[in-house]
Amino acid sequence: MKTLLSAAICAVALVSAPAFASKDLATAKGCLACHSQGADTKIGPGYQAVAKKYAGQKDVEGKLAAFIRAGSPAGSKTMWGGPMPMPANPGVSEADAKTLAAWVLGGAK
Ligand code: HEC
Repeated sequence: MKTLLSAAICAVALVSAPAFASKDLATAKGCLACHSQGADTKIGPGYQAVAKKYAGQKDVEGKLAAFIRAGSPAGSKTMWGGPMPMPANPGVSEADAKTLAAWVLGGAK
């Protein structure tokens, strides 16, 4: 029982810790230079607007993680109607991209 309890506490710690880590990650990777955490558009869409766009859709996290690393597909029209597509982020690992995608989809809090 004691083991179970500490496992549960560990799980909670693991789940709640990335809330801060993800913002730090987004800052470190330069995401917040172009994106706000709110709904307003900077150069790219605000993360709350992205979360709203994909709300309730399945399998989005993996697609978004791939997008975060690769940027907008070459020659594509911008999805958000902004002046520029998103550049690729080669400095973002697959694991980091998943963390960031999950954070964005969760409303970037
Ligand atoms: C140089 C500016 C810039 C940087 C840096 C940048 N983005 Fe973007 N991002 C954009 C723009 C512009 C768009 C909108 C593209 C479009 O309309 O097609 C966008 C779109 C997005 C979207 C929405 C994709 C969709 O399917 O609607 C996500 C999520 C995103 N960016 C995450 C990130 C993350 C995470 C980082 C950091 C690793 C990052 N961005 C760094 C400019 C940037």
